[in-house]
Amino acid sequence: MIAEAESSPPVSFNHEGVVERVMPHYYKWSKVYGDPFLYWFGSDAILAVSDPDMIKEILVTKSGSFGKIRPNPAVKGLLGEGLVELKGDKWIVHRRIAAQAFNMERVKEWVLEIVDSNRNMMSKWDANIEARNKSEFEFDVHKEFHQLSADIISRTAFGSNFSEGKRIFELQEQQVVLVMKTAQNVYIPGFRFIPTKRNRILWKLEKEITELVTKLIEKNKNTKQNSSTLLTTLTSPSKKDNILDLKEIVDECKTFYIAGKETTANLLTWAVLLLGLHQEWQNKAREEVDRVCGQHAFPCADNLADLKIVTMILNETLRLYPPAVMLMRQASKNVKLLGRLDVPVGTQLFLAITAVHHDVRIWGEDANVFNPMRFLEPRNHLASFFPFGLGPRVCVGQNLAIVEAKIALAMIVGRYSFVVSPSYVHAPMKSLTMQPQYGAQMIFNRRS
Ligand code: HEM
Repeated sequence: MIAEAESSPPVSFNHEGVVERVMPHYYKWSKVYGDPFLYWFGSDAILAVSDPDMIKEILVTKSGSFGKIRPNPAVKGLLGEGLVELKGDKWIVHRRIAAQAFNMERVKEWVLEIVDSNRNMMSKWDANIEARNKSEFEFDVHKEFHQLSADIISRTAFGSNFSEGKRIFELQEQQVVLVMKTAQNVYIPGFRFIPTKRNRILWKLEKEITELVTKLIEKNKNTKQNSSTLLTTLTSPSKKDNILDLKEIVDECKTFYIAGKETTANLLTWAVLLLGLHQEWQNKAREEVDRVCGQHAFPCADNLADLKIVTMILNETLRLYPPAVMLMRQASKNVKLLGRLDVPVGTQLFLAITAVHHDVRIWGEDANVFNPMRFLEPRNHLASFFPFGLGPRVCVGQNLAIVEAKIALAMIVGRYSFVVSPSYVHAPMKSLTMQPQYGAQMIFNRRS
């Protein structure tokens, strides 16, 4: 079904077909069997859920009865045994360190670095405009935003920059494609040790990435002792019981390179595409940025909270195109949900974020329409909008993601006006996160 969805003819640029394209099995079976429904993936029973009350119980009120699923070993190679995959006491220690590194006060200290990264990206765009001697230029913003968020995570988490981590990101991109293909199949025990063509490439990639990350850690831990990055917090923890060994540090770095880059790059890509399509919102955002930051000036830590329209636009983007398409959990004991549904130990749960975000019963008849006004007031149900997850495992990089996306969007609308190129083909697709299958071609004009 995934292959069919990805090869189906492109749709016109509206937001109706998103669920069908990124989770085709959920889309088809929920229509036939209702919600929740149970299906099998090999020997695993999976309960697909999109009821916000049930999701709240699973992720928040009864979170102690639901853990992370046992990952496909191919995914383990991608994230190592980092925070996303850890459980139990180890998770508590690693989470404490990461939460310290990404609290809002820390993130605000990085605003200047984030602005600087954006300036470098835009200088490159300007050089492009000048070189062509044209007032407008077309390019794929998806690629640009991957580089931007790679640079930002390198600077903020590791005290380095994109060019130092470039090879790691390139190898991880190749790894993601192969791992996602592998994870679509039922895992047969021991299969990862068989020297198939794909496994051999994956082994090689994992080895090279581990070597490069280890070198980067060795280099930066000695030179950047004064800075307050994730890496310095990992390598010189303030408490004795937070000391991690080299393998644990390497695995955390792999996790943060992936988690910090993919998600935010895709959020920005969809936000810019949506503003290219909805010019009225692009204009509203621009007026706000000019008013709050001043024309030709950049956002700073003190005025980020005043960018209310920009925040509403980002929330509406996260609703329609959530980078994390769904979440998985597994019952660690027998549980009763909503006092009526018995879930036996071992059952896996597929929490359909994208379906909840597009549900007309929750968002009204215009659920598939881009309307940032819905975020003017605080939302009334916790689990009707949860792009960063909920409960104890909620995204630890959320502050960085929001600050990074606000700054980038504000700087871009402040400097350029843009439209979607006629060559853009609308085809949302689930890789590790939701992305445009054929890139995001846009036409930019420099404001005078
Ligand atoms: C728009 C951007 C982002 C989105 C939509 C997003 C989404 C999510 C979601 C849904 C989860 C929960 C997974 C679950 O419950 O199974 C999560 C966890 C996580 N995210 Fe993010 N994320 C974003 C940005 C980031 C950034 C920038 C970083 C790193 C700097 C990051 C690092 C992590 C980590 C390490 C976890 C695992 C936390 C734990 O299990 O304790 N994320 N993210």
